[in-house]
Order: sequence, then C-alpha cells, then structure tokens
Amino acid sequence: MSNGRFAVIGLLLGFALTAQADVIDEKLAQYRTEGAQAFSAEAGLNLWISNHNGRSCTQCHGDSPQGVGKHIKTGKQIKPMAPSVNPQRFTDSDKIDKWFLRNCKWTLKRVCSAQEKGDILVWIREQ
Ligand code: HEC
Repeated sequence: MSNGRFAVIGLLLGFALTAQADVIDEKLAQYRTEGAQAFSAEAGLNLWISNHNGRSCTQCHGDSPQGVGKHIKTGKQIKPMAPSVNPQRFTDSDKIDKWFLRNCKWTLKRVCSAQEKGDILVWIREQ
C-alpha cells in the first residue's frame, strides 16, 4: 500500500476518534447557541452537590463521580459518571439530552438551563 493511502486511512480514523471524543464539545457549542455564556466548572459542581428541597444529583449518582451510584428509588446500580473511570460516559448526545431532562425535572422540579447543563459538563469531563 502506498504511503498516501496510509495517510488517508489515518486521517479517517483520526476523524472518527475525534468525533466520538468530542460529544461534550458539541453539546457545549449547542448550549452556547441556546444563550449560555462562559461555562464554570465550579458552578457545575455546586449544582451537582447542592440540596434542592431534599433532592440532589448525588442521591442517585453517589458522593463521588468516580464511584458507583445507586438509584434512590429502584436501588439499581448506576455506573460511575466520571469519564476517567467510565469512558462510555457522555458519548451519546441523545442520551445526555434524555437524562438531563429526566433528572433535572426530578431533582430540581424544572428543566436545567443551557448554562446549567454546560456548567455540569465542563466540571464532570475533568472527573
Ligand atoms: C433518581 C435518580 C437520579 C437522580 C437524582 C439523578 N440521576 Fe442522572 N441518571 C440516573 C440514571 C438511572 C441514569 C441512566 C443510567 C446510566 O447512564 O447509568 C442517569 C444518567 C445521567 C446522565 C447521562 C450520562 C451519560 O452517560 O451520558 C446525565 C447527564 C445525568 N444523569 C445527569 C444528572 C444530573 C445533572 C442530576 C441532578 C440534577 C442527576 N442526573 C440526578 C439517575 C438519576
């Protein structure tokens, strides 16, 4: 095979890998078009750990994002949220949308804003 063809295959592989790794970047770009400003990991952490009238993200996801969570109602295990220990996390845009919607409604009794979702993602991607 010629070097040229290797280069093309390498390039395509590179695109495929980057595309997968960058779902979080895509979501952040989307949230910006929805009006979000600069994202803050600190604000994301705050939202994640804070108590909202007795409910919190950590009730199901656990105190540490690297640890296994446990659903507060069903008792089912929830795999770690931190991409450093669970690389499957945040690789599917539809999944992110679905669970932000469901979990913000349950925890905060409202949907999360684009700003809040982005803040959480910039915090959690470093975990
Ligand atoms: C009542 C239990 C519960 C609470 C509270 C909860 N979650 Fe979840 N969350 C789940 C379950 C169950 C899943 C899906 C199972 C899985 O992905 O392992 C999930 C998945 C997610 C995902 C998808 C992750 C991915 O892989 O793409 C996001 C994002 C998320 N939760 C955010 C939140 C946020 C933000 C809060 C707090 C506002 C929160 N969750 C509170 C149960 C909960």
